[in-house]
Amino acid sequence: MSGINNLARDSVKAITPYASARRSMSGGSVWLNANENALAAEYHLHGNYNRYPECQPPALIGAYANYAGVDTTQVLVSRGADEGIELLIRSFCEPGLDRVVICPPTYGMYAISAQSNQVQCSVVPLLADFTLDVAAIKATEHTKLVFICSPNNPTGDLIPREQIVEVLEFYKETALVVVDEAYIEFAPNATTVDLLASYPNLVILRTLSKAFALAGLRCGFTIAAANIINALKQMIAPYPLAAPVAEIAVQALSSQGQQRMLQSVSIINALRDDFIEFARGISAFKQVYASNANYVLLQVNDAAAWVNAIASDGILVRNQSSQLGLSQVIRVSIGSPEEMQLLKTSIQRYAGTL
Ligand SMILES: Cc1ncc(COP(=O)(O)O)c(C=O)c1O
Repeated sequence: MSGINNLARDSVKAITPYASARRSMSGGSVWLNANENALAAEYHLHGNYNRYPECQPPALIGAYANYAGVDTTQVLVSRGADEGIELLIRSFCEPGLDRVVICPPTYGMYAISAQSNQVQCSVVPLLADFTLDVAAIKATEHTKLVFICSPNNPTGDLIPREQIVEVLEFYKETALVVVDEAYIEFAPNATTVDLLASYPNLVILRTLSKAFALAGLRCGFTIAAANIINALKQMIAPYPLAAPVAEIAVQALSSQGQQRMLQSVSIINALRDDFIEFARGISAFKQVYASNANYVLLQVNDAAAWVNAIASDGILVRNQSSQLGLSQVIRVSIGSPEEMQLLKTSIQRYAGTL
C-alpha cells in the first residue's frame, strides 16, 4: 500500500493545497471567512439533463458578454474564476521555462495553480501602500503572465489604473496581464474592460461567486481578445459546466438578476462602511484598512486569538497573517445585517481582553 501512496508525481506531493475557508474551518453558524454574499436568491431548474451540455453555452456567453459590454468572442465561461486561472497557466506557460508574476499579499490560487503545473512564480511584493512595484515587475525574467488583483484580496484596495496600463504597455508583445476583477461589482468604476480595445494582452477574470451571490454554483468568466479565448478553449474540458449551472447563471444575468445583484451590492457596501466606522472605534484594532470590496482587513495584536475568540461565538473569520507582507491580520467578510450585528457584539465582548 505504501508503494501505491508513493505513485503521485513529486511535484504533486510537494504541493500544499489551497486552504479554502470551507476546508480549513468547520462549524460555526455565521460564515464571514470566504468573501461570499450572504444575501442569497432562490433559483429554480426547469430542464431535462439527459444530454451532455454545450461546452460554452451560447445563451450564457451572450448574457455575460452583454452584461460586461464585450463581444461574445471575447468571453469564456468556466468552473469559477479559479478554472480561468488554471487554464491561463496551462495554455500559456511552458512548465520549467515560462514564469508568472504574482504580487502578494494577494489571492493564493495564482501561486498554487502555477506550482501544480510546474510553472515558477516571480514574486514581486506590493509596496507598503499596497500599490504595484512596477519597476520590479518589469525586471522579472521569462514572464508570460502577470497576475494583478483589483480590488485586491485580502487587502481590499484598488491597484491604480495608471500602473496597470504601464504593465500592459511594457508587456504588449511578450506577456499577458491578467486583471482579476472577482470583486469588481463592489467598485464598478475601476473596471479595466475599456482597456481591452487598446491592449490585446489584457485578460480579465470575473465570477458569479461574489456580488452575484452564487459561490456554490462555480461559474466564472475570462474576458480577453478572441485569439486568447480560443487558446483557452483548446485546453478546457469538453463539458466544463453542468447544464443546471448554465441555466441558473443565465437567470442570474437576466435584467431582474442584475437588478437584484446591484441591490445587494449597495446593501453590502453600506454594511461595510458602517463596519469600518465601528472597527475604527475599537482600540484593539491597530489598523482598519479601507476596502473596495465585500471584506475588511483588520490588524490586531494576536490574530489567532481573535479568530478563536470570535469562533467561540459561532462566527468564522479568516486569519490572513501568513500572507507575505502582512502580519497579525484578520479578514472579515461582510455578511447580512443580522450577522454583522452578531459580529459587532462579539468584537465588543473581546475588545477589552485581546
Ligand atoms: C481574487 C479572487 N479571484 C478569484 C476567486 C475565485 O473565484 P471563483 O469562486 O469564481 O473560483 C476568488 C475567490 O475567493 C478571489 O478572491
